[in-house]
Amino acid sequence: MNDRILQILPSLLAADFGHLAEACRLAEASGADALHLDLMDGHFVPNISFGPDMVAMARRNCGLRLNVHLMVTHPDRYADRVIAAGADTVLFHVEVDRPINALLEAIRAAGVRPGLTLNPATPATAVFPYLARCGQVLCMTVEPGYGGQPFMESVLPKITEIRREADRIGNLGLSILVDGGVTLRTAPRCTAAGADALVAGSALYGAPDMAPAIRDMRAVAALRVTSAGTGRP
Ligand code: DX5
Ligand code: ZN
Repeated sequence: MNDRILQILPSLLAADFGHLAEACRLAEASGADALHLDLMDGHFVPNISFGPDMVAMARRNCGLRLNVHLMVTHPDRYADRVIAAGADTVLFHVEVDRPINALLEAIRAAGVRPGLTLNPATPATAVFPYLARCGQVLCMTVEPGYGGQPFMESVLPKITEIRREADRIGNLGLSILVDGGVTLRTAPRCTAAGADALVAGSALYGAPDMAPAIRDMRAVAALRVTSAGTGRP
């Protein structure tokens, strides 16, 4: 047990789309560590959410770090645009048929933290060849595309496998995020498995008051965090 700091990231997908600027400010005022934005193309996932302009809107309306999750078939077409719009971290899916190392390097060369995301059925080993180049790995605990789905417990061992491999290769600063169905009940399971950052949509934007919801999530999950990290979402 040591000093890894738990990060909590509200997911804007769960906010009221009629009041998105306010939703960005709410996350910041409520003590979030970063804001998570889900870009979808209607191809990699069945849903369409929003595009790079939403990242720019978030940048204008809050000072939080912006954690951009590209659920798109061609992340190489959008990485530059979300970086120009103000992203601090760009995550794309390891399942895409694109040159992964080159894109991770291009994102890092732009001064932005690169990361990979895994769908629930994708094994941990899929990210191992790229792990040294990743600042973050995001494990989906629902099928990507929609908020409000139930958490898939079956993904938990994968988090531990990725943490173990990151430690083995010396990527001690790797942040492991969990995304999908994170609640007060499931958050402690994630950190116990080796995650140090939690993305939560419904549980935070659906709460009557986000600040105590974030505080409660930190309280139930923080004590379970078990290894060192950078503390940067
Ligand atoms: C789903 C998105 C998530 C979503 C999570 O594809 O990647 O970020 O907003 O929503 P909840 O927390 O409601 O499961
Ligand atoms: Zn997401």
